[in-house]
Amino acid sequence: MKLLVLDSYEEMSRVAGEAVLATVKANPHAVLGLATGSTPIGLYEHLIEEKKKNGTDYTGVTCINLDEYAGLGEDHDQSYAYFMKKHLFLGLGIEKGQTYIENDLAENGEEECLRYDAVLEKYPRDIQILGIGSNGHIAFNEPGTPFDKTTHRVALTEGTIRDNSRFFRSVDEVPKYAYTMGPKSIMGSKKILILASGEGKAKAIQELVEGTEITPDFPAGILRNHPDCTVIVDKGAASLLQERCV
Ligand code: GLP
Repeated sequence: MKLLVLDSYEEMSRVAGEAVLATVKANPHAVLGLATGSTPIGLYEHLIEEKKKNGTDYTGVTCINLDEYAGLGEDHDQSYAYFMKKHLFLGLGIEKGQTYIENDLAENGEEECLRYDAVLEKYPRDIQILGIGSNGHIAFNEPGTPFDKTTHRVALTEGTIRDNSRFFRSVDEVPKYAYTMGPKSIMGSKKILILASGEGKAKAIQELVEGTEITPDFPAGILRNHPDCTVIVDKGAASLLQERCV
């Protein structure tokens, strides 16, 4: 695992954005694995700004999202489908037909997970962007998720519901369930970038970078087994690390 510590959120976003751009420039038909949450917003802004300047063409890319709340519907302003449109797809001119995300209104959850696994198989990801939860979750894989899980439906932990309630009017409005790629699905990407910003993530980053055991109690730990994973953090998220490589 490679570690990059940058001075600020903006620098972190720029460096991560340039890695995504390099992937798209190397292959205009690249498959991008994308994440939601507040962390990747700066990266997405960087891509949109770059497109405005240089006209980078995204019409050939395919975008595959990590996870989605269950039951909100794609037009709900807190659904991840809505988030992606607002923060990235509109700005890059990416059409709905180029994007994949779990259907949170699917009638049969098990079938929906199988459908999504088939999508992942059809479109092997060249790069996967990840954030990290303060408890070490990646996508919605909460502590205890077996590492061999593919797409599945999960009950969110109280901690995640509390963390994510800042985006809703009240904690009661946060969905209790979600769909998510599993750890095994995430590991299937050729390259992975995991981003974290701010001191609230410092403990999780310390465990990710310096932890000694790889167990499902800390889902992000599995990334240490990936052959091409880069941890990109700002100073706040790196604040508990013993050694920092820049
Ligand atoms: C959510 C998402 C994760 C994300 C995490 C951290 O739970 N499902 O994919 O990484 O939140 O979010 P943030 O970047 O806002 O801290």
